[in-house]
Amino acid sequence: GVSSLIRVTPDMLKHNNGRKRKPAWSSYQGKVYNITPYLPFHPGGEGELRRAAGKDGGKLFMEVHPWVNWENMLGECLVGIMVSEEQAPI
Ligand code: HEM
Repeated sequence: GVSSLIRVTPDMLKHNNGRKRKPAWSSYQGKVYNITPYLPFHPGGEGELRRAAGKDGGKLFMEVHPWVNWENMLGECLVGIMVSEEQAPI
């Protein structure tokens, strides 16, 4: 639920890039999603989706398929919200 969302700084997002057994996170419109469980199911392939790992995926996403409803599909994978580096994570 909403109460379990964490605050994610840009450094945290960059760290969780799916490499070296770390989860793959990607942000979209200020929300951070763990895209790891969806990787094998992405119709465009795992490699394409990994390009958005550890960063904001909004631009890539909108370039390819603006009609896809990210929030509906990955609602279960919502991790937290983006905050600036100064706002300490809880
Ligand atoms: C296709 C979901 C991120 C590249 C698709 C399709 C879905 C989907 C549902 C099929 C769309 C259709 O046939 O109308 C998602 C979700 C994403 C995501 C939920 C967010 C996490 C990305 C990113 C990229 C990408 C970041 C590019 C770097 C592609 C490509 C296809 C595709 C190239 C076309 C595959 C084809 O038709 O051959 N994606 N996608 N996707 N996706 Fe994504």
